[in-house]
Formats: sequence, structure tokens, C-alpha cells
Amino acid sequence: MGNEWKISEVISCDVLILGAGGAGLRCAAEILEKRLGCKVIAVTKVSHPQKSHTSTAQGGLAAVDPKDPVDKPIYHMFDTWKGSDCMADQNVVKRIVEAGWEEILWLENRGMHFSRDLDGRLARRTFGGHTLNFGETSAYRAVFEADRTGKGIMDTLWGEVIKRGITFIHQSMATELLFNGDRCVGAVVFSPKSGKFTAIRAKATVLAMGGCGQVFKITTNCRQNTGDHLALAVETGLPVMDPEAVQFHPTGIVGPGILASETLRSVGGILRNKDLEAFMERYAPKMKELAPRDLVARAIETEIREGRGILNPSHGIEHVWIDLRHLPEHVHKSQIPEVASFFKKFVNVDTRTELCPIRPSNHYHMGGIPTNEHGQVLKGPNNHVPGLFAIGECACASFHGFNRLGTNSLLELITMGRFAAQKAMEDLDQDLPPLPPDAGSRTFEKFSSYIAGYSMVTIGSLRERMKAVMTEKVGVFRNEQGLKEAISLLQELKEEVQKCGLRSKDLVMNQELVERWELDNLLISAMLIAQGALHRRESRGGHFREDFPERRSEFDRHTLVYMEQFGKVRIDWKPVDMTIYEEGGPYAERFGMIERKY
Ligand code: FUM
Repeated sequence: MGNEWKISEVISCDVLILGAGGAGLRCAAEILEKRLGCKVIAVTKVSHPQKSHTSTAQGGLAAVDPKDPVDKPIYHMFDTWKGSDCMADQNVVKRIVEAGWEEILWLENRGMHFSRDLDGRLARRTFGGHTLNFGETSAYRAVFEADRTGKGIMDTLWGEVIKRGITFIHQSMATELLFNGDRCVGAVVFSPKSGKFTAIRAKATVLAMGGCGQVFKITTNCRQNTGDHLALAVETGLPVMDPEAVQFHPTGIVGPGILASETLRSVGGILRNKDLEAFMERYAPKMKELAPRDLVARAIETEIREGRGILNPSHGIEHVWIDLRHLPEHVHKSQIPEVASFFKKFVNVDTRTELCPIRPSNHYHMGGIPTNEHGQVLKGPNNHVPGLFAIGECACASFHGFNRLGTNSLLELITMGRFAAQKAMEDLDQDLPPLPPDAGSRTFEKFSSYIAGYSMVTIGSLRERMKAVMTEKVGVFRNEQGLKEAISLLQELKEEVQKCGLRSKDLVMNQELVERWELDNLLISAMLIAQGALHRRESRGGHFREDFPERRSEFDRHTLVYMEQFGKVRIDWKPVDMTIYEEGGPYAERFGMIERKY
């Protein structure tokens, strides 16, 4: 039987949220709590919201209690600014940091099981780059639930939205954004289970679709993070901001690349090379293991490049060690039980008695869909798209600039989830605009071309080639020649992918069809990252160019990449917001283009 290229059903709601991880559910919870009876639909790629990537977050959530006798929000703002390599937007930094503690209380009041200290207060731990008094000493500002903080947040949020009547659409993919004139009026969603396309009309559409870590070979990201949001953006003619700003977490468990939380270093874990030297002393004399991630990841890769890594013959991947053997038993048991179990399960190592093998693993995309501080999507440096929001990792507000501090992502996703909800609620009293008459046509054109493919090359083999080139040439270290080679290989892969044949031509339960669509999205994401990296001829945070190893003042601005046709990009720039610096005041000088030493 032939496939039916039609919209099977049109459903309407007040707010459509694409993605049901931490950002999406925090946004939904705010709307459902404040507007009784509001109809909110959340579409998720996974089988249950709890399987979203947020659930894998381990270490904690940074926020300063305004009553804290030693820590202050201004220190947190400074650390975020310095950590970002002077690329975070200061209006966003100020708003998020100031709202952080209210969010902790919000979660706590709704039953999140934060870990507590012996006096019954919220326990806190330190993370890289978080300091007191503008860099003087480490700040203990991350609250946590053991080493499964993301799971704690998701349990709490899920309970809230279920209680208040959210509608979930599971295991479905958003394939097209719909517009009425300039206004976003919803999206087309494909269900691989039924093989049907649904158009969802909404007064506000919120993108909360996670990251694109699957473009790399070794990543901490879950398999659904295939950059679908970046494809949606560029296909709609929107720019992607700072795509070259990619974070590599220093401690991925060697082999699978699974996250071994920064908590390991926070509780005293020591990085050692093959001579068992604690090498961080040479790279960050003051902060050592607790320097920000970009510095630690480069230090580890440098040790390996210079021959001080360890080669395990069973998997052939060079690595260094994290040494946890000196930590007291109770730390292994109560602070790092999950990570310890991962080391046991994946590499058969006992964290209490053996050295643990680690190497940097792709972790986070600081770049993404540009938004203002309310989460409204920007189509140029200043004007936003009515009815369209983006929050969480898929967005770039930009709170993290070019290097995110550990525990700042959970803070960002819950605060931006709330801010976007507040803005979206302003427009919910207006009428629901009609859908465009050609709703679905772009999706049908794309999906029918997938079905028409004929070549024998497999999606899996093309995806592995893409991952290999991204890890090798667009990874921790980059240079012009490697980036140009990567771009031309991605172009070749795109041509091969277009011919790729599917074994089943059916729309129903066709996993290969899903992977074909994801591969298109991955290639778009990879191309955006490589192009952004090529155009930024300097080193900044997580973007390190061997041919331009210094930060350069002419690049004190965000990159905006437009890509209406694969590989053909137009680059524009957006100034970095310097509100705190420009407002003056006693700390203004700390928020200039400061030197970054740890
Ligand atoms: O290392 C970690 O636990 C990860 C935290 C984060 O990415 O913020």
C-alpha cells in the first residue's frame, strides 16, 4: 500500500512544548500552576519524559542563597562571566543568577529530595570555576541530590505537570514549524508508531529539545540528542548562535564516554598521568582539578598528545586516571554511588581501590537557537519571532558564553523555563491563528525523498563517518586545515545520504526512517559547528584553534550562522550584552574583558 502524505489530524492547544526534559517541564509546570485550565501539550521523542537527557544530570544545581553569610550572587555572576571567556550576555547572567534561589525553594517545596548536611540544611558542593570573592577560593554553591540531581528534578517536575493535567505525546518527532505570516502557530509532529502526521496549533510554541551531542563519536549525551532543533531553525530561515561553542567534559568514562561527574573532583579526586603525576598543578596552579572544564579537558588531551597518557590494549583508547582511592568510604557510598556503579559496570573498576580511566567526552552545546532573556527566539540581532520560544540546551540566551560552568545548566533550564512561561502567558488570551494551507508540505517532501532513496550504503556507516570526522577535526583542538577538511567531508556525506535507501518503505514502525531523518539533522548540526569554528579565527572557551591560540578582541561578539542551503552559510554577528559593566557600580570593572587565569 502507498504511503499517505497528509495531515491525519489537527489538534489545538494553548501552549505546545516540543521536548519534555527539565526546561520543557519547568515551563509547563509554571503555566499549569498559574493558568488553571490552560491546555498544554508536550511532545517527546522518548517513551517517557523521565528518559529525557536531563535525568542523566549528576552533580548539582548552582544557586546562591541571598541570606548566605559568605557567598553572594555577584560572585556567581562574576564566575559565570569569567568562565564564559567573556561571552555570556550579562543581562541574562544577572536575571538567571538573581532568580536561582527561588527555583531551589520551588523545587524543595514540591518535594525534591535535596541531600542535606548533618545540621539538616541543604548540602552543597563546589564545582570548577565557582569561587568566593572574585576568585579567591572555591565556593560551595551547588545543591544536589546525591549524584543523580537531574533525576530528582525530573521526578518533581513530572509529578507537578501530571497533577495539573498536561497532555504528553510520546515517541514523536517535531518535523516542521508552522507559521501564519511572521507568527509561529504550531508544528507538524510525526509518530513512528502510527506512521501518521499531526498538525498541532498553538498560541505559543516552545522549543525545549536538548542538544546535539550525537554529532560526536564520544559523548555523554543520550541517543536522542541529534540536533533536531538546529535543523528546524535553519530550515525556517532562523540563525544559530555560536554553534562552534561546544563543551567537552574532562571526565568521560573511557570507552563509552559516559559522564563521570565533576563531583569526583569536587570531593577530592586527583587527575594523574601515566607517571602518576598530579598534572593539573602545571596547567591551573591555583584551581588545579577545579579549574573550568575547557582548561581541564585541554590539559588532559595535552598530556595524552605529549605521550603521558595510558594505552589500554583491550580498547586501544588512550586516557589518564582519576584517583579516588584516598577518599573516605562514606564519600564513595553517599556522594558518588551512581558514578562508582558506572565505573564498575562499564570498565569493571572499583573506585575505592583502583585508578579510574577517563578522557574528555563531548558534553554540552553552549551554542543554539538565539533568544532574548525571556526565551523569545530571535531572527536577527534584535527582533524576535512572535509565538516562538526556545529554552534549555537547544537555546542560546546566552548564559554560558563559550564555556559553561558545571551545575549552571540545571540552573539555566529551570529559570529560563519559568521566564519563557511567564512571557508566553501574556499572549494566551488572543485567538488561535489558523494554520498555513501548506502545513506539512516540507515534511512530506523530505520524508518522500527518504523513501525514494535507492543506494545500498547504510545510515549507520554514514553516521559513524560523520562522528569520526567531528571528533578528530572539530573536537577539543581545531585548526583551519582540519576544519576545511571536515566541511568538505560533511558535504560529501550529505550527497551520499541523499541517495541512501531504506529497507522498508513503510511509514509505520520504521526505525530506519527515524534514523534517516536524524542523520539529516546531525549533518546540519555538524556543518553549523564546523562553519562557526572556521569563521572564529581565535581561541575562546571551549573553542580552541591551534592556529590562533589566543583570544582576539575583534571576536568579542556572538556568531550568527544562517544556512538556507546545506553548507552555504551566511555569517552575521551580535554584540555581547555588557549590562553589568555598563551600569557602573562598585564591581563593574570585574565585568570587562578580563584576563582568564585560574
Ligand atoms: O559533572 C557533572 O556532574 C555535570 C554537571 C553539569 O554538566 O553541569
